[in-house]
Amino acid sequence: MLGDFAVTNHRKKRGKLIGAICCLTLLLTGLMTGCGGGGSSTPPPQQSFTLAAAPGSVLVSQGSTSTPVQLSVQAVNGFQGTVSVSLQELPAGVTASPAVPFSINADSSQAVTFTVANTVPRGNYNLTFAGTSGALSNSAPLALTTSGAAVNRPAQDFKKQVIYQIVTDRFFDGDASNNNPPQSPGLYDSTKTNWQDYWGGDLAGIQQQMTYLGGMGVTAIWISPPVDNIDVLANLSGTSYAPYHGYWARDMQQIEEHFGDVNNTWAAFDNLITAAHQNGIRVIVDFAANDSNPNDGGEFGALLDQGQPFASYQNDPAAPNNLFHHNPTITNFNDPFQLQYYTLVDLADLNQENTQVDGYLKSALAQFMQHGADGFRLDAVKDVTWGWQYALANSAFTGGPTFLYGEWDLGGTTDPTYADSVQFSNRSGIPLLDFSLANAMRDVFANNGDFHEIDDTISQEDSDFVSPNDLVTFVDSHDLARLLSLNNNQNLLNEALALQLACRGIPVVLYGDEQYLHNDTGGGNVPYNRLWMSSFNTTTTAYELVDQMANLRQTNPALAYGTSLQRWINSDVYIMERQFFNDVVLIAVNKSQNAAYNISGLYTSLAPGSYTDYLSGLMGGFSIQVNAGAGGNNPVTAFSLAANTVSVWQSSAPATTPELGSLGPRVGQAGLTATVGGDGFGSQGTVLVGTTASSVQSWSTSSVTFVVPSVQPGSYNVSVQASGGATSNALPLTVLTGGQVPVTFTVNNVSLPAGASLYVTGNVFELGNNVQSASSAVGPLLAVPASTTSWFIDASVPAGAQIQFTFFQVLSDGTIVPEGISHSYGVPSSGVGNISVSW
Ligand code: NOJ
Repeated sequence: MLGDFAVTNHRKKRGKLIGAICCLTLLLTGLMTGCGGGGSSTPPPQQSFTLAAAPGSVLVSQGSTSTPVQLSVQAVNGFQGTVSVSLQELPAGVTASPAVPFSINADSSQAVTFTVANTVPRGNYNLTFAGTSGALSNSAPLALTTSGAAVNRPAQDFKKQVIYQIVTDRFFDGDASNNNPPQSPGLYDSTKTNWQDYWGGDLAGIQQQMTYLGGMGVTAIWISPPVDNIDVLANLSGTSYAPYHGYWARDMQQIEEHFGDVNNTWAAFDNLITAAHQNGIRVIVDFAANDSNPNDGGEFGALLDQGQPFASYQNDPAAPNNLFHHNPTITNFNDPFQLQYYTLVDLADLNQENTQVDGYLKSALAQFMQHGADGFRLDAVKDVTWGWQYALANSAFTGGPTFLYGEWDLGGTTDPTYADSVQFSNRSGIPLLDFSLANAMRDVFANNGDFHEIDDTISQEDSDFVSPNDLVTFVDSHDLARLLSLNNNQNLLNEALALQLACRGIPVVLYGDEQYLHNDTGGGNVPYNRLWMSSFNTTTTAYELVDQMANLRQTNPALAYGTSLQRWINSDVYIMERQFFNDVVLIAVNKSQNAAYNISGLYTSLAPGSYTDYLSGLMGGFSIQVNAGAGGNNPVTAFSLAANTVSVWQSSAPATTPELGSLGPRVGQAGLTATVGGDGFGSQGTVLVGTTASSVQSWSTSSVTFVVPSVQPGSYNVSVQASGGATSNALPLTVLTGGQVPVTFTVNNVSLPAGASLYVTGNVFELGNNVQSASSAVGPLLAVPASTTSWFIDASVPAGAQIQFTFFQVLSDGTIVPEGISHSYGVPSSGVGNISVSW
């Protein structure tokens, strides 16, 4: 049982470097006495020994054994004894071989290995080898980092993960030979003063920092786009820009030479994947499908396919065979047509409804999957044709287990595109980066906003999104000024991170936040938020906080799967409870700089008992006493909550019946592999899709992989039935008709009355099963440019199906005007489709 109500805080015990043990060095006692030619006797130099460990640090993943550490005894002044060696601060669950104490003779060495149990929390531990021989002693420090158990298959559920976001160019230079590659010379600035140049960070650099990453407890890294980018500076409005950020692709099928090697091979990427997976860290690739590169400088939008010409923006075939859209820059970010078909800033806008472009993008994504990428952050999903992205997600999920999340940039839950973002995510099964919560968090922690903002946002989103626990949360990002640039207060950043790491959703921590990096030039906005990672200190409060909360996310399912409940709030204080059956986490944050608050009338689902702070006082936390109450509302003895503190109290109990917390993907067709996560599944049982049993591929008490059965397309409840018959709660699954392709539906001859909108429905689930309502059908259709009577939309429909479809209008008063006839269409079995009819 993990921390019951008597709460033993199971946070790992960090070894303190026994720095105080100093070396006994040679004592020279040869004192010259006497003079005048008299004889002097010099006592022999005192014998001693030194103990040394090489290497002085070692990285070991859970469930594995370290490479050997050579521990050697060096004799000083002819020492010839035997040294008995013991180990101090060896964490529970780590065993040394040979077992201590062991002996080493003078001028000999002993290889020592460490085996780390799966239960040892990820983190950094400072061990000390202590050697004695009679009255002599000496010691040698050893830094042990334990990382996560090796991952050997892709994950479909990231809710237990903590993601660390890296701008590869700005992190660590692991390979100086790629800094100024011959095919793209002069884009590198070794002085790191030109913010628009490459600064040398690369994939090898990330790999070389695996110990730092493992010790921070992060279980995934999101890397900036690693694809080959333009080879020359883009001179835009008088400034020269290198594509250090990775968003200016020239060839999406190869790796950028500044990040890998001069031949643009996958070697550095493959090596990073191998090293990360060995240490329980998954790799998420930033994937930009909206555009290639600037259309007004540099390489003028052109794209290559494995080095061969693929698409030329400047010499693009005429419509309908165009590979790019040639529309103006988006000015109205609330207009769906502009968003999907206009140009984002100056970035050559790809026409995903072209078969070649569709194939190019899907094969790029598939290649990353084949090279071991565990997931994708989809860039600018608001700006890419939505139907095409539903089909992209389906193609990714069909290709194998993976995890996707999209960037739908918005201002908050009142943003005009918020409703569209919800629909996009719920229908596609693509979770979104949680911009609404980020905005609220940034206002609360940087601008002294009121905690109600955060609480209201969580409530709103939790009622709108099918799977709020899949939202990907952040406080800082590579596109926003860092919190410390807005308000240079490290306490507030720590508090924001603590709350984010406890919140529902999958947390992303931006590289350098744990080192309190910021540069406030220009308000700290891009590019000044993309600083060089100048230190890798493993003892900052934020680094330790991330580690501890990442471990809690692994051990207490309340953080990954639980509900969110506000238990006490005022403008400065937020006490939030996460609960998943008998697993509970309660977090209390007081962000005031000076005011303590008396907290009375606080209730919790924690069972009666006393609870110590899970963070062991890292941020001023303390213990609470929970008393017996009724109905899951147990009163907490009143306490004073000091300014600038965070406390985390928790308890977790293994489930005795199946408890379902996660399903991924949430949308897919029969035959697709999906995974449920939770607790108490036992060693065997059944996964039910509705009432249909599915075929099971693997079963553990917390995770089951199954195949979506052949059932009628539609919405289902998925549940887990243990072998004894006990059945879990249910989670929703959308079963599609089949694999998906995007089809552009155009209808001509429609003069829409003012305020009316147009939808398409049809005889397949994807088109709403002929139900003529806006919430079931696909739409509203967009106006064909320069036409007042032609309308279109790109929709994702079953590949190879013969479908019947029809249009209907929704008038401003809600009246439905049906087209009255239906059209027939044979959907292509791959690529993209296009059908144009008249009303
Ligand atoms: C959003 C990314 O986060 C940003 O950094 C990038 O410049 C744009 N999309 C265009 O790809």
